[in-house]
Amino acid sequence: PITMIFDQLNQISSTKPIWNKVEQALNFKESKATSEPSLTFNELEVKDLAYSINNKKVLNNVSFKVKAGEKVLLMAPSGFGKTTLLKLLAGQLTPSAGSITIDQNNLTGNWLKSHDYFGYINQKPFMFDRSLLFNLTLGKKYSEAELQNAIKLAGLYELVNEKGLDYQIGQNGNNLSGGQIQRIEIARSILAKRPILLADEATSALDNELSLQIHQVLLKNSNFAVIEVAHKISHQEKEMFDRIIDLSK
Ligand SMILES: Nc1ncnc2c1ncn2[C@@H]1O[C@H](COP(=O)(O)OP(=O)(O)O)[C@@H](O)[C@H]1O
Ligand SMILES: [Mg+2]
Repeated sequence: PITMIFDQLNQISSTKPIWNKVEQALNFKESKATSEPSLTFNELEVKDLAYSINNKKVLNNVSFKVKAGEKVLLMAPSGFGKTTLLKLLAGQLTPSAGSITIDQNNLTGNWLKSHDYFGYINQKPFMFDRSLLFNLTLGKKYSEAELQNAIKLAGLYELVNEKGLDYQIGQNGNNLSGGQIQRIEIARSILAKRPILLADEATSALDNELSLQIHQVLLKNSNFAVIEVAHKISHQEKEMFDRIIDLSK
């Protein structure tokens, strides 16, 4: 009985933070209607950013600026800290030093402020065990035209045409290919209409031709800036960016 009590106490202490997070998420009310135009900005400034985890320095002294509509590629080898950098920008992590500001607005470590500015194309997108439609819109309301536009731009027309929007994608999107999951993530980011798109190896799961097509969509659109991180990308795609920064240098 004593070991059982300890076991239960352990379970309570480990599930409580999870439950707190769930409650916070359930109580979250989005302040912006989806039909509103996206925010605008002049310049994003990342200054002397550093991040450590378990006393290990992951990033140090990272500084760069990005202007509205600009397309920037950040290159670095695997394990360098690219995903960490994007999470810092999106306010999902708090840096150990440095700042992230947009115009006069300090966003450092502030997810709530950051998320109106940043769309995020995740390296490992989260899929809900629900319909294709739900996974695209995440339960928000969009006009038919907006939805069809995002489906087309993300290269999902064939899938939607063949399976329909009510198609159940299964647990972890098991009824879809890796490339289709990635394209759903890209469609979500187009629908979200944020002025800066963070792309984490956005097309690494796709074949060359599709990767090129999607880059053409993301990089030819002046409505948003793109900050993409990658460790490998074709020469042709590299040329579509305004600027390439090699983080390891
Ligand atoms: N939550 C974490 N706990 C411990 N180490 C981490 C964590 N997140 C990232 N790291 C470490 O930080 C480094 C950078 O990771 P990451 O940003 O994912 O690199 P990249 O995206 O460039 O491949 C890696 O060495 C990784 O092991
Ligand atoms: Mg990564």
